[in-house]
Amino acid sequence: MTSWRGVSTARRYDLYSHEFRRSTHETYARMRAESPVHLQPGLDGETPIWFVTRYDDVVTVLRDNERFVLDPKLALTPEELAALREGGPEPDERVSENLLSKDRDDHRRLRRLVTKAFTPRIVEQLRPRIQELADDLVDRVVERGHMELVDDFAFPLPITVIAELLGIPAEDQGRFRVWSNTFVLPPMTPELQEQAARHMQEFVEYLDALFARRRAEPTEDLVSALVRAENEGDHLSENELYSMVVLLIVAGHETTVSLIANAVLALLSNPDQLVELRADPSLLPSAVEELLRYDSPVERGITRWAAADVELGRRLISRGDFVIPVLGSANRDGERFPAADELHLARADGRHVGFGRGPHFCLGAPLARLETEIALETLWRRLPNLRLAIAEEDLYWRPIPIFRSLASLPVAWDV
Ligand code: HEM
Repeated sequence: MTSWRGVSTARRYDLYSHEFRRSTHETYARMRAESPVHLQPGLDGETPIWFVTRYDDVVTVLRDNERFVLDPKLALTPEELAALREGGPEPDERVSENLLSKDRDDHRRLRRLVTKAFTPRIVEQLRPRIQELADDLVDRVVERGHMELVDDFAFPLPITVIAELLGIPAEDQGRFRVWSNTFVLPPMTPELQEQAARHMQEFVEYLDALFARRRAEPTEDLVSALVRAENEGDHLSENELYSMVVLLIVAGHETTVSLIANAVLALLSNPDQLVELRADPSLLPSAVEELLRYDSPVERGITRWAAADVELGRRLISRGDFVIPVLGSANRDGERFPAADELHLARADGRHVGFGRGPHFCLGAPLARLETEIALETLWRRLPNLRLAIAEEDLYWRPIPIFRSLASLPVAWDV
């Protein structure tokens, strides 16, 4: 495709390859300078998408749920919707009727059901358990002198926490990694599509059985609370119940893991900052915000639809177009953050968009912050002289477009 509504859509920036993963921040810097609201094909090489890379424009997209929406029904005519559905696979409503596919009233109704479980006050009560889990994970490896930080620490910590919150039995947690991956890896080949459908089916069957058990015998977990809301006609349909639990599992699997790993890498690559943090642990909360800004694990927000014609960054986005707010780029915008490419843990202004902004601001932010604080404090308290065990240029970033996520992070320490 070379033109879309009169705008050239040649693929000018490489935004998906392995090469891009090595030069992510440089690429976004060029986009902010040359074409901050930029139209080019997405991953499939065909569908035109507007990539929004400057901080102010990204904030506009995130906050404005009148003009930028997640529910295509609010942006497209019934005919356009029907044509869209013809072109691609039917969305599976058992897993897609969630907070990140709704706007306005529908969104508020769903969000109200889960807000209470994630307030900073409630989350703070989890501190002793999260600390215990972090120490247990370190106990398992401390004598060894090395570990693969993603698999041995960054992954099991938040996964266990979210699984315990939801009430998923420990012995089943391993299967959730496979299922969760299915949701975030783009199924680009027929084989992958078939595999994704199979995993989705297994996941839904598992949840069927879990919901049935909680209906028969409710416990104190979040799944029981949601099942109760569905039973009591508290405006939660069956599809919405499935979708909510799936979203919480996926959000809990794919995000904090990357924040912990990216944060450890950033600290090891900026030893002066690490020294400051170790000298003054009261820096920890602002350090977590800065680490989120510096290498944002959710690199691209969810794709929005333009619900009206909108002028943004002197470009005209037409109703029905796709728009991606690039959070990882906004967070490196030098117009907003002085010396944006440098890590300054004491940076006072934490108004980054690493957790989004506006109506869809991350529900799990208090939990993610607490987990990451505990993770970093525990690692540096328990593992003397923690260091990278391979050269930084040999690290491999997973090829998942919306996340900035390391496949592995081998580290070592003195024993
Ligand atoms: C470091 C970890 C995390 C990061 C960086 C992160 C980032 C984000 C971002 C950027 C959004 C908004 C997406 C958009 O508007 O396009 C979001 C939404 C959301 N996040 Fe997180 N997240 C993290 C952890 C979590 C955790 C642990 C949970 C749950 C247990 C969670 C649950 C959610 C939910 C439910 C939404 C949708 C909120 C809504 O639409 O109202 N997140 N997150």
